[in-house]
Amino acid sequence: MRQAGRYLPEYREIRKTCPDFLSFCYNPEKAVAVTMQPISRFDMDAAVIFSDILVIPDAIGVEVCFVAGEGPKLQAIEDAGTLQKLSSEKLTPVYTIIRQVRELLSPEKAVIGFAGAPWTLACYMIDGEGGGEFPKTRDMAKSDPSRMAGIVAHLEEAITTHLIAQAGAGADVLQLFDSWAGLVPKEARDALVYEPAKRIIAAVKQKFPALPIIGFPRNLMDGYAAYVEKTGVDGLSLGTEVTLAEVAREISPDCVLQGNLDPILLASDAEAALKETTGILRAMQGRRFIFNLGHGILPHTTPAHVQKISEMIRQWQP
Ligand code: CP3
Repeated sequence: MRQAGRYLPEYREIRKTCPDFLSFCYNPEKAVAVTMQPISRFDMDAAVIFSDILVIPDAIGVEVCFVAGEGPKLQAIEDAGTLQKLSSEKLTPVYTIIRQVRELLSPEKAVIGFAGAPWTLACYMIDGEGGGEFPKTRDMAKSDPSRMAGIVAHLEEAITTHLIAQAGAGADVLQLFDSWAGLVPKEARDALVYEPAKRIIAAVKQKFPALPIIGFPRNLMDGYAAYVEKTGVDGLSLGTEVTLAEVAREISPDCVLQGNLDPILLASDAEAALKETTGILRAMQGRRFIFNLGHGILPHTTPAHVQKISEMIRQWQP
């Protein structure tokens, strides 16, 4: 999950040498090194490529910068008219990183590529910053659906291109992050969440039929089952807002669940995190399942806690 690196001293060491976050993302040598760090340290089963969902706005002509302590700032857009076609040239480093990581990793480990979903990218681009409320975006979704549809359609095309290129470069799995799906007005879920995801997934699968795709429609609550049915995802990643067991009841066993240890617990209380992890493993017994955090790991997390949890999962027997 996002910010995977910041709790690792070896990440901070490399990060220091590259004050501008986006140029860090576009630096193959450094990005490959930090992608490999959790594998070297913990022997994780998959490497999440070091990048960010905001490389797409950057590659369609929207100014993006990361301000220390304030999060991302973007040039706020008002409609699709100012957006450019995705510059694959700009994103070439991402594909180089994937290629190199795939070469470095042993064959039984997976490379996970990713992109933000249209709505979540629209949130950052329309409001121009993070913060979690995105009032301008929500207002546009309600008051000017056709303008919103134009932005989402443009993003959909860019995301599809970016995901197909990542698969072509060697990504084994792709994840679509719709971190702010829970903010979509209910009546607009089809237009802004389900339909775009369905078309993106279908387009990727047309080129790479066997490639698994995981969705992360965070905070969608009563919409998870519909998300799985309507979009055709192979996996559903869940945040800390729900328990896996309750969602599992409404989701087909063909869909792999992923999640959802609370990163706050992991950072603050190793014992409680171990207990919670046992609960998750028990609840997911007999299901196809990927253990993960419910959201981004917190910078003040002790690496030893991660080590402990990983070992416990490896040794766990029902
Ligand atoms: O797991 C990983 O770290 C892999 C790479 C990854 C990053 N971002 C690197 C990153 C992934 C998968 C993301 C996804 C991402 N980025 C999402 C979707 C997942 C989610 O968290 O819901 C979102 C919403 C973003 C946008 C973003 N990027 C935010 C809001 C921030 C925080 C800015 C801040 O100052 O706290 C980032 C920065 C970011 N992305 C960091 C990393 C490692 C931290 C940058 C640093 O080192 O200072």
